[in-house]
Amino acid sequence: MKPVYPLYLNNEAQQPNADLEVTDKFSGEVAFRCAQADAKTIEMGIQGAVEAAEPMARMPAYERQAVLQHCVDRFGERFDELAYALCVEAGKPIKDSEGEVGRLIDTFRIAAEESVRMTGEVQPLDISPRAKGYQGIWKRVPIGPCSFISPFNFPLNLAAHKIAPAIAVGCPFVMKPASRTPLGALIMGEVLAETGLPKGAFSILPAHREGADLFTTDDRLKLLSFTGSPDVGWDLKARSGKKKVVLELGGNAAVIIDKDADLDDALDRVIFGAFYQSGQSCIGVQRILVHAQVYDRFRDMLVARTKTLVAGNPHDRNVFIGPMISEGEAQRLDGWIQEAVAQGAKLLCGGRREGAMLEATLLENVDPCSKINIEEAFGPVAFLMMFSDFNDALAMVNDSKYGLQAGIFTRDLFQMFDAWDRLDVGGVVINDVPSYRVDNMPYGGVKDSGLGREGVRFAMEDMTEIRNLVIRRN
Ligand code: SIN
Repeated sequence: MKPVYPLYLNNEAQQPNADLEVTDKFSGEVAFRCAQADAKTIEMGIQGAVEAAEPMARMPAYERQAVLQHCVDRFGERFDELAYALCVEAGKPIKDSEGEVGRLIDTFRIAAEESVRMTGEVQPLDISPRAKGYQGIWKRVPIGPCSFISPFNFPLNLAAHKIAPAIAVGCPFVMKPASRTPLGALIMGEVLAETGLPKGAFSILPAHREGADLFTTDDRLKLLSFTGSPDVGWDLKARSGKKKVVLELGGNAAVIIDKDADLDDALDRVIFGAFYQSGQSCIGVQRILVHAQVYDRFRDMLVARTKTLVAGNPHDRNVFIGPMISEGEAQRLDGWIQEAVAQGAKLLCGGRREGAMLEATLLENVDPCSKINIEEAFGPVAFLMMFSDFNDALAMVNDSKYGLQAGIFTRDLFQMFDAWDRLDVGGVVINDVPSYRVDNMPYGGVKDSGLGREGVRFAMEDMTEIRNLVIRRN
């Protein structure tokens, strides 16, 4: 008998069925079963959130902080269980799974700190004679019931980036976790159910994508925050009505290795950025731009190191490359590699697939029209390109429909500021890969990579409205 997990409807565990099978992504066997919400259950969750909006808004900051601190404490106590569940349901190597539980705790801790720091501003309005004697004050108020849709690649921390800011500002929410990895969010539901949040403050409802339209279309929900693939995200936005929409989507992130870079250091970081959790990160390194003077040396070092990466069972502490989320996804990317090679790319290493396991793969001479260049690979594949002029490298980074983060290995201060000014991305990371993220920094993209920013404080701003007060004194 496989462990069975309930859904959370209006703060309470409920087990209407155990319809959703969650597989162990390495063995392919069913590992857990979860309850799945139908449209009526989702509707009840939304109604509960509507009714909870006022009590949530009235909850004092110190009580919201206590809820968040409870989560920090309980996630710490349940650290190993959370990491194990993540390793099974996402196939994420155990060390990366532990790393993600650490980040989950960070995210809730940051939210606990920020929850008591939401301030406004006193604003003089007497900027012209007609406003003499007027003064303004503005504050932030919760936007109201929120809708959250979270992805499979960071099932804990990317759900936390929506849940924790919502509690910090006092917004009730309904959440649809990714169907392939719902467990992390459900364990968060179990922990939240231990707190005194007002009834209806949260519902965590695994649901079929086709049954989940209400998360997008229901007008009672005031904000939709989606993390996932660009095609799905922009389609949801088009159907979201009057809601505010935050989209954290994908990219084909680039890193520049300039001629003055410390190549050994860059090598360690590029290996991490391109291949950790099998490249299934929106900011995974996909395009590696290397200065002509160091190109051959860096390529040979990178290929040699990539060949040593240990692939296999994600529970094994030596394993760095686990399975992709599904065999279908691995087949898709395998097809893109083959297409790139047919279009003239040189396969430097990797390229073989067995089921959902795809080897860490490097290419060069990729045709600019290949999918592997244009689209988000979202798997353990990267390719090298050569540049001779730093300005050209910046233009190559910008030559993409995406713009999430970019990394630059350089010791030149002026180049750093040029890159910061000119790269059309949400964040520039100097002397590290674009894959670097700390959970309090503003995080999000431009162009097809999304709208708005997460990073607790920035998500809190999105989840609030400014309410102004104008005072006439005469
Ligand atoms: C993402 O894949 O969008 C998130 C990456 C991260 O949080 O490290």
